[in-house]
Formats: sequence, structure tokens, C-alpha cells
Amino acid sequence: MDRKESEVYLRLDPARLPKHIAIIMDGNGRWARRRHMPRVAGHRAGVASVRSTVETAARIGIPALTLYAFSEENWKKRPRSEVDFLMRLLCRYLKVEIKRLNENNIRLEYIGRKQELPESVQREMEEARDATCANTGMVLTLALNYSARSEIVDAFRSLAEAAARNGGLGHFQVDEQLISDHLYTRHLPDPDLVIRTSGEMRLSNFLLWQLAYAEIYVTQTLWPDFRGVQLLEGIEEYQSRERRYGGLGKDPGHAPEHATSRPHAEAKR
Ligand code: FPP
Repeated sequence: MDRKESEVYLRLDPARLPKHIAIIMDGNGRWARRRHMPRVAGHRAGVASVRSTVETAARIGIPALTLYAFSEENWKKRPRSEVDFLMRLLCRYLKVEIKRLNENNIRLEYIGRKQELPESVQREMEEARDATCANTGMVLTLALNYSARSEIVDAFRSLAEAAARNGGLGHFQVDEQLISDHLYTRHLPDPDLVIRTSGEMRLSNFLLWQLAYAEIYVTQTLWPDFRGVQLLEGIEEYQSRERRYGGLGKDPGHAPEHATSRPHAEAKR
């Protein structure tokens, strides 16, 4: 940890670190434009931000980090050349980074419609996942060809198929847990904190179900300028917030008469 990181880290309460942080990495194009460089230069620079953020999160003991790398919409709406570049960048990252992921005891996972990605990319993804599957530290989940609405559609399909195999929906208790169990993120707790870079105030179809109670932290920093220290600043802001889960806060004017249980999302934390 460098001096700046240590300074912020010392202000954090290690007992109240988020269990799962999700990040919408945004602003690569603007970063490049400001430097009169092609957009893809911003994506290339963004890989160093991924490395720094992932390793800082793992080092301080965050159990899960999820990065929104490419949305389903990115594929459809960006020029072919940019999409191809992002694919190559991802494959290179998966190849080169395995060693560092293993050194940091990080296990790689994915969410999104992987089956729609080029087969060569799917193969690299499989290999990288297999190469890190025995690691017991942080789970790094990359959202690739991801859309939260598609995830919910896929959860409905998966539920309908399970019902058809098991004598109908009547045999299921349809509740929040059942739906969570059919989402791509069934291996993860819901995020406590979602970070978006570059100042945009949108969720952009990211983890819409899972972010129900997450704290939202938006920073003006563009993704290629984001490093571990900015992650720690986001966590510091998170720790300064009071999470209420729809209940009343600690403010004496709002003191609840009886402590009530928190909703399902908290039960998993
Ligand atoms: C958003 O910036 C960023 C992306 C669509 C791609 C994110 C990819 C990386 C950070 C690098 C590769 C990732 C991995 C995991 C190896 P934008 O292009 O929408 O920026 P803009 O809004 O300024 O145009």
C-alpha cells in the first residue's frame, strides 16, 4: 500500500468493510478524448485501474468485487472495431493476469450471457476461471455481455424450466430467496456499495435486483484515473452513511420503538 492509500485505510473501520462492492467503470472514452487519443486508448489505460482496484480490494479483505466490464448494450451500440478491441483486451487481461490473481488468492467468476460471446473469448474465460478456481480469497466477478433485465428474464426461464421438471410452480415457494437463487449472482451476497466513475448518475441496467439496498457512490474520477486509493475513499464514504433498509435511523427524533428485522437482502450479509 502506498502512503496515500495507507492514510485513507487508517481512517476505515476494518469491522465494517463492505462484503461486496460493485463498480460501473465509466469514462474511458472521455479520458482518451481529453488527451486527443482514440477511445480505445482509454480502454487500454483502464486495465491498470482494474489491476490496482482489484488488488487493493483483495489486500484489505473485501470478500467480493464485481466489475461491469461490457454491457449487452455495448455490443449492440458500439462500432465493430471498438468491440473487437475490447475483446482482445479482455483476452489479454485473462491470460496475463492469472499469475497476479493467483498471487493474491483471487477467484475469477463471470456474469452475463457468455454463450453469445465469441468462442475463442469463452475459451479464455474458462481457462482463467479454471486456473483460479482453487483460490479462497476475494471473488472477482466480471460482468461481460451483461444486462440486469436479461438476467431477470433468464431467471424466469430457469425457474419455469425447474417448475416444468418438478411438477409445476405449485411445488415452489416463490419468494425473494428463490428468485435470488436463479440469478447469475447466486454465488454472491448482494452488493453493499456500488461505485460509478465519471460522474454519471445512472445504474445502466446493472444488478437491478441486487442493488436494492446498496449505497451509491459516484465519483467524478474517470475510470482510467481510478486507483486503489479512490476505492478506499469510496469505502470511507460508505462507512460514513447510515444504512436504514427502509427503517428509521439512529437520529433520536426518528428512534424506532422496537428493533425490527431487516429485509431479506440483509439476511445474507
Ligand atoms: C466505459 O467507458 C467502459 C467500457 C465500456 C469498457 C470497460 C473496459 C475496461 C475498463 C478495460 C478492460 C476491462 C477488463 C476487465 C480487462 P466509455 O467508453 O463508455 O467512456 P465514455 O462514457 O467516456 O465514452
